[in-house]
Amino acid sequence: MTADLATLVSAMTLDEKAALTAGADNWSTFGVPRLGVPGVVLSDGPVGARGATVDRESATTSVAIPSGTALGASFDPALVARLSAIVARQALDKGARVLLAPTVNLHRHPLWGRNFEGFSEDPLLSAKLAVAYIQGVQGEGVAATVKHFVGNEAEHERFTCSTDVDERALRECYLVPFEHAVRHGHVMCVMTAYNRVNGEHVPDQDRLLRQILRDEWGFDGLVMSDWWAMLRTDDAARAGLDLEMPGPARSFGPALAAAVRAGRVAEADLDAKIRRLLALLDGLGLLDGARAVPTDDGSKGGTEGLGVVPRPEEHPQDRAEDRAALRRAAADCIVLLRNDGLLPLDPGALRRVALFGARSEHPSIMGGGSAKVRPHYQLSLLELLRERLGPGVEVLHEAATDETGVVAAASAASEADLAIVVVGTAEAIESEGYDRTTMDLPGTQDALVRAVTAANPRTVVVVTSGAPVTMSWASETAALIQCFFSGQETASALLDVLVGDAEPGGRLPTTLPLRLEHTPAFGNFPGEASHVRYGEGLLVGYRWYEARHLPVAFPFGHGLSYTSFEIGAPTLSSVHLGSGGRVLVDVPVTNSGARRGAEVVQCYVAPPGGGTAAPGARFRPVKELRGFAKVWLDPGESTVVSFDLGERSFAHYDAADEDWAELVPRRPHEVYPPPPPSAHRTASGWYVAPGTYELAIGRSSADIAHSVLLAVDGGDAPLDPAMLPD
Ligand code: BGC
Repeated sequence: MTADLATLVSAMTLDEKAALTAGADNWSTFGVPRLGVPGVVLSDGPVGARGATVDRESATTSVAIPSGTALGASFDPALVARLSAIVARQALDKGARVLLAPTVNLHRHPLWGRNFEGFSEDPLLSAKLAVAYIQGVQGEGVAATVKHFVGNEAEHERFTCSTDVDERALRECYLVPFEHAVRHGHVMCVMTAYNRVNGEHVPDQDRLLRQILRDEWGFDGLVMSDWWAMLRTDDAARAGLDLEMPGPARSFGPALAAAVRAGRVAEADLDAKIRRLLALLDGLGLLDGARAVPTDDGSKGGTEGLGVVPRPEEHPQDRAEDRAALRRAAADCIVLLRNDGLLPLDPGALRRVALFGARSEHPSIMGGGSAKVRPHYQLSLLELLRERLGPGVEVLHEAATDETGVVAAASAASEADLAIVVVGTAEAIESEGYDRTTMDLPGTQDALVRAVTAANPRTVVVVTSGAPVTMSWASETAALIQCFFSGQETASALLDVLVGDAEPGGRLPTTLPLRLEHTPAFGNFPGEASHVRYGEGLLVGYRWYEARHLPVAFPFGHGLSYTSFEIGAPTLSSVHLGSGGRVLVDVPVTNSGARRGAEVVQCYVAPPGGGTAAPGARFRPVKELRGFAKVWLDPGESTVVSFDLGERSFAHYDAADEDWAELVPRRPHEVYPPPPPSAHRTASGWYVAPGTYELAIGRSSADIAHSVLLAVDGGDAPLDPAMLPD
């Protein structure tokens, strides 16, 4: 680039600058050819790169990596970074330099149509995987876009509904993945949510976009709207939204130029937007031909000279190495929920296998909506199974999708020496645009599972879904697998896990509830009369079930291995955490079984008084995930995993009450003793309550192997806002 960004901005006319603030079309931005400034092409993610189209059928084919929930189940940031790099390379094949991914909204309720896109119910797991996803994408020279900022956890009336959430839950849960994406992941773009938050439309919200995102977190990248989300020119311009998508412009573009001319929006605000757009292009290496002195092309700097990026030719590669990597990765995301020893199968001992279920031939591989892609190919589990077991094994197959089919299936199952039932949802059931209305499996699938498990005790049940389904029959199964939407290699990975060629490497990134009525947001989902009340506050996911002592089908973090592990007693670098300090927690892990496998060691922090509400104190969840480590070990092999915890791991957010001191009744303190200073603070921020905290190390939120105590000083001053989150 021959000019710095400020000079380049000053070389543009007001109309040119305003035009750059809105998309040129659905998938690209304008450029200013006379200044050598190009436009840029965007493509949806997160499972693949669909390319410059919203319609899958007309799209060129794409790689399809596991969806968010499956990636969440991997508990493996390095794996997520490898997979998102594959998506980024596919985006490059299609001429796109901005990927609209990752989705980091939390699994607040199992029926949200887009749960499959998000990683987890847990903020920290979501945050760590979001950072990894971003690094994988941006490492390939493609800008990542973390979305949807914030509180977009239902599809019902998503363009208008207000997410009513208290400041503490917002800070401790829903904002956490975004904060990490910005402060650790250095994400280049943020996409705003469609919804309102606490009554105010997100694209216009000064509080979220300027005060939190830019001023507190220092985000210097590009903020774009979700598609057709924008409503107001002036408020959004002032709040710091940079790019209206898609084009042609409605709220920005010429309308923004008019707002500047009328003095309603400062030209400096517009200049800042253009600087951020140019910085994005520069960061992608797209400004090499830019110059502040225009070429004399006759253009006077009006919008007639603006350039639409010519539709790039798309040459998506279906790379052999991607296929292999995705097959291994999908197995790393598969969760073995129950196993009485039936798995892994011994193919040599089988003579007749029966395969049933609506999803048995083509297990669901992705959800619906903007995340869907046209995959390079589709695999058949039936064909793969027949091929793997060889001609000596008879494989009976029956989709059994109605009541008669269920009776045809039960009798065939009784004559087989093994039955496999593959049930689940599909992309038409779990999709952007609408929420599910039930957690139950569609159709006669529950009846099929019951009939086959009753007919043959050697039955493996596989659930393919992007979010939890009711499994009222779970305890009747000999082996039960949860396979979240795992992308193009779902079928081959399932086969590998069934026959033991691969370890089921996944752990639940979200609690599987027993009943819908037990779930945290029940009664507050999907919202009514234009509001969705986040009434459960901090108690998202396992935090809720633990605080309420509710039984669950399978807890957060749960998953079995084909081998066994011993988690040894943790050692701490110090039994005391002072101001500004950190503590290292070392945990030995040994593979005590007979084959190579993966263990996910989880570190939870249980604050003093967690789950109880003492007057004047802050309510805390019973415990919260503060670290996790996935290790692969050979039989007999040991390693030590470490968790590095700073004060943020022990802190809670206090929204403060500036008015309290003025409002407090002037009563004699001898009669009504004054509350402790921590009860009403005037400065908002992260605070650490002093006390003895428990560090719980285990293999799920419900399976804790060891607990150690740590004395934490804490104090009445907020943590330094510059302190990065752990
Ligand atoms: C979705 C976004 C997506 C955009 C473009 C919107 O409907 O909410 O996640 O990136 O469309 O397809």
